[in-house]
Amino acid sequence: MQIQWYPGHMAKAKRNIREDLKLVDLVIEILDCRCPESSRNPDIDNFAKDKARIMLLNKADLADRTVTKKFSDYFSQKGFYTLEIDARNKGSLKKLNALIDTACQPIVEKNLKKGIQTPVIRAMVLGIPNVGKSTFINSYIGKAMAKTGNKPGVTRGNQWIKVNKKLQLLDTPGITWPKFEREIVGMNLALIGSINDQILNIDELVFYLIKYLTRYYPKSLPERYGDTILGMEEALPIFDAIGKKRGCIMKGGNVDYTKTAKIILDDFRSGRLGTITLEHPIGSTDDAPNDSEDTTESKEGKACGN
Ligand code: G4P
Repeated sequence: MQIQWYPGHMAKAKRNIREDLKLVDLVIEILDCRCPESSRNPDIDNFAKDKARIMLLNKADLADRTVTKKFSDYFSQKGFYTLEIDARNKGSLKKLNALIDTACQPIVEKNLKKGIQTPVIRAMVLGIPNVGKSTFINSYIGKAMAKTGNKPGVTRGNQWIKVNKKLQLLDTPGITWPKFEREIVGMNLALIGSINDQILNIDELVFYLIKYLTRYYPKSLPERYGDTILGMEEALPIFDAIGKKRGCIMKGGNVDYTKTAKIILDDFRSGRLGTITLEHPIGSTDDAPNDSEDTTESKEGKACGN
């Protein structure tokens, strides 16, 4: 599936992020737990080497707990402070203040030694569209803020938000960062709703999802759409069976795949297919797809058992 990216906008957005990073001590990245690697900005590690770093693994309620734990460990081992959250639930953010203090301690101490008093920690909040950045900010500060624009590199739309006497957040527009050579990343981002559905081939996307679920979460489709699917291994007959079951039939009796695909996609995104994660951490010993492989083909082959 080809997704149209805008390299000019990306280059401008990167420049803006580099500029903004000069203003902050801490970078808080919001990732979607269902595909934490795919939903990361791949350039940030280079840009933010001297910053304190926190990864918020959001939408933990929708993801496979076991894999989320693996990702938490994986990011912690890489030196990031990590917290699993459901941004809609303020309670899941309780530990964040302590985490920010811990993450920023070395910077505060370094500044104090230099004679620089830094009573206020400035943090940049980054996240691609739809990962729940606005929801997080609203829950964290306890009131609704205007949503920062998501147009890649077109409007800067940054805003400073005072959380308390000690902390200010810089909210930045959500930008999707493509890893151009990896189509599977595009698939994952499309599945979690970070890429506008209107530019996607939904049938192809859901065909991929069906293959993935059949291999890695074989109970999820039968539990939602009925036992007729149980034991089926090929994606197309499963697609057909779900379409028929849901009454998505066109004139002439053929299955309306686009209508069926929308139902399946909506069920996946809202968690009605169960708690599902689309990738595993790099270096995982299991055979699930992760971000370490070079070509889409090999990943898809592996992911879908082809
Ligand atoms: P963004 O600023 O990063 O673009 O994302 P935003 O906060 O607008 O969140 C995108 C969607 O994800 C919203 O749903 C929001 O409610 C949902 N969401 C955010 N965090 C979580 C979470 O931890 N778990 C779950 N299950 N959902 C989460 P929506 O349907 O688009 O809007 P709404 O009707 O809920 O407002």
